Amino acid sequence: MAKQTLLILGGTGEARRLAERLCARSALRVVTSLAGRTSTPEALQGEVRVGGFGGADGLARYLEDQRIDLMVDATHPFAARMARNAAEAARLTGVPLITLMRPAWQPVAGDNWQIASGMAEAAKLLGQEPRRVFLAIGRQEVQMFRAAAQHHYRVRSVEPVEPSHLPANAHCILARGPFSEADEIALLTEHRIDIVVAKNSGGAATYGKIAAARRLGLPVIMIDRPKPSGTATVANVDEALAAIEAHLAAPVAERGA
Ligand SMILES: NC(=O)c1ccc[n+]([C@@H]2O[C@H](COP(=O)([O-])OP(=O)(O)OC[C@H]3O[C@@H](n4cnc5c(N)ncnc54)[C@H](OP(=O)(O)O)[C@@H]3O)[C@@H](O)[C@H]2O)c1
Repeated sequence: MAKQTLLILGGTGEARRLAERLCARSALRVVTSLAGRTSTPEALQGEVRVGGFGGADGLARYLEDQRIDLMVDATHPFAARMARNAAEAARLTGVPLITLMRPAWQPVAGDNWQIASGMAEAAKLLGQEPRRVFLAIGRQEVQMFRAAAQHHYRVRSVEPVEPSHLPANAHCILARGPFSEADEIALLTEHRIDIVVAKNSGGAATYGKIAAARRLGLPVIMIDRPKPSGTATVANVDEALAAIEAHLAAPVAERGA
């Protein structure tokens, strides 16, 4: 019998751990897809393909050409376009889709969060008075803060930010998580930060800055998630494995139900 093929839409730690666990199953061909944003991605088990598919139609063609039996969208909670394309390609082809999305962070006692629906609103919420801002939103939307040029920014990202996207007073920090609370406290203190801007990514790897802000009594502008959570959403790698097992064990006619 031909091996069943599973496509993981990746770019997250969960996707990497899922591929690792699935590759232990010899009866499965596992392909992870990366957008190609990071020049040195962490090593992945199984097959890897890199680059966009060309929208939902392109992904649908790929699913058919590669005879994909099951797709797991394990992209980042802010990768909204890929999530929409995955849902549409699943609808077009009938390939079942499982969405793996880590739960959002929730404020706890001592947190001082303002919620922003996107980058433009976050830039406005920084206010008129110059502040020292820790901008931990990745590199793709930094340019939205050029409109709030009165502030001093410390911009952290894995890959360098395009220089023309930086606000006037910006200093870049290149680093890849995970980041501990202790290290984040040291960083925020060293740079005399008085406000943090973050995406509500969820998970432990980047929570250190949120815990550090709480500890230091700093406000956080928390950018809300763009992705709606679908019905077939699982919250972690163990749940994803269980859902995958159930799907692949089901007779073909029942799949996708
Ligand atoms: N957004 C974040 O904050 C963030 C943080 C950490 C990691 N990431 C990872 O970085 C990647 C890009 O994120 P994004 O926010 O730019 O996504 P996005 O806005 O939802 O997607 C934009 C386009 O990039 C391509 N793409 C995205 N993820 C892909 C994947 N896994 N494999 C192949 N193509 C992919 C697709 O191109 P086509 O339409 O041509 O298929 C998609 O339409 C994702 O893999 C995500 O998991 C994102």
